[in-house]
Amino acid sequence: MDRRRRRAGALGLLLTLAAGGALAADAAPPLRAMRWLPHGADAAAALARQPAECLRLPADPGARLAVEVGRAAFRTPLLLGGQAARAGLSCEACHRQGRGNPDFRFPGASGVPGTADVTLSLFSSRRGNGVDDPRPIPDLTAPRDRLKVAAADLPGFIRGLVVEEFDGPEPSAATLAGLAAYVRALDPAACPAGDAASVRVGVGGLMADARRALAAGRATLAGGDGPTTVLMVAAARARLGLIDERYAGLPAERARLRAADAGLAALQAAVRDGRREAAAAMLERWVAASRPLEARLRASEAGSLFDPARLNVAANRRLPPRPS
Ligand code: HEC
Repeated sequence: MDRRRRRAGALGLLLTLAAGGALAADAAPPLRAMRWLPHGADAAAALARQPAECLRLPADPGARLAVEVGRAAFRTPLLLGGQAARAGLSCEACHRQGRGNPDFRFPGASGVPGTADVTLSLFSSRRGNGVDDPRPIPDLTAPRDRLKVAAADLPGFIRGLVVEEFDGPEPSAATLAGLAAYVRALDPAACPAGDAASVRVGVGGLMADARRALAAGRATLAGGDGPTTVLMVAAARARLGLIDERYAGLPAERARLRAADAGLAALQAAVRDGRREAAAAMLERWVAASRPLEARLRASEAGSLFDPARLNVAANRRLPPRPS
């Protein structure tokens, strides 16, 4: 059974991922992002730290909200829909912190590491061209004149990516405008220098991201934009998911994370049902409760896979299957 799965290659792997959690234990790497690393890569080097984000937040509150909506959407697999979302891919998987990703290698979708074929039929029923044509993943923080897509063309380009290349559902107008605003707000002049050029991946940053997404969701909810609010809550849930997989050996922390996730699922249901006031109250309660949750998680962070040494041990114990 396991041998057959391995031989099924990229499509088989994607479909197995789609089945969600059905992977045999020995084939499943502890972190989803490990599936996008080249075989035998140094997991701690690739996943314990990441480049700093180079983001220039606009001063105007409306413009700032657009960037925050885009920032959260950029990090949310649900945005992409279809196979990519089920495999846990988001814009961020390829464009780490809005940059490139020299280590990205998706079975069947990359050539050399750092490239991806975004016209792959695995991801898209519309644009798949049946041709193996991986391209380097561009650093979206590069100076504008080095990028191919003009700032004014970004909304159309990004809509094409989401809806056609990745088969995602039509994004809300605010989501699309937000993604374009986010990409435009990436600015090489905003890159932190020196030690701050690279940041540790940890509970603090991921919880801060979840609260940022919910702050954007608070504003979109107040504005009566249900679909964008549901996506913002999905962004927070995706951050919890990234924490959860690092606490694999810590069941008490995991139980807390899952309860917190259930709270966000209930919040999404309230938004979908149009229970706006109840949703707003749930959101505030969740944000308040996220502080003690974070403190609790931080207390055991050294025993989780946020610890580089533990991460390496876990990665080497269960290397992802070599793509055939
Ligand atoms: C599977 C990896 C992958 C994912 C996921 C991905 N991209 Fe890209 N992106 C690429 C590659 C590769 C290119 C270069 C394509 C080319 O050169 O034709 C690119 C190009 C771009 C560009 C154009 C850069 C330029 O030169 O102007 C933008 C903007 C962009 N992506 C934004 C996004 C956004 C927003 C998302 C999420 C909706 C996303 N990408 C998801 C791999 C990816």
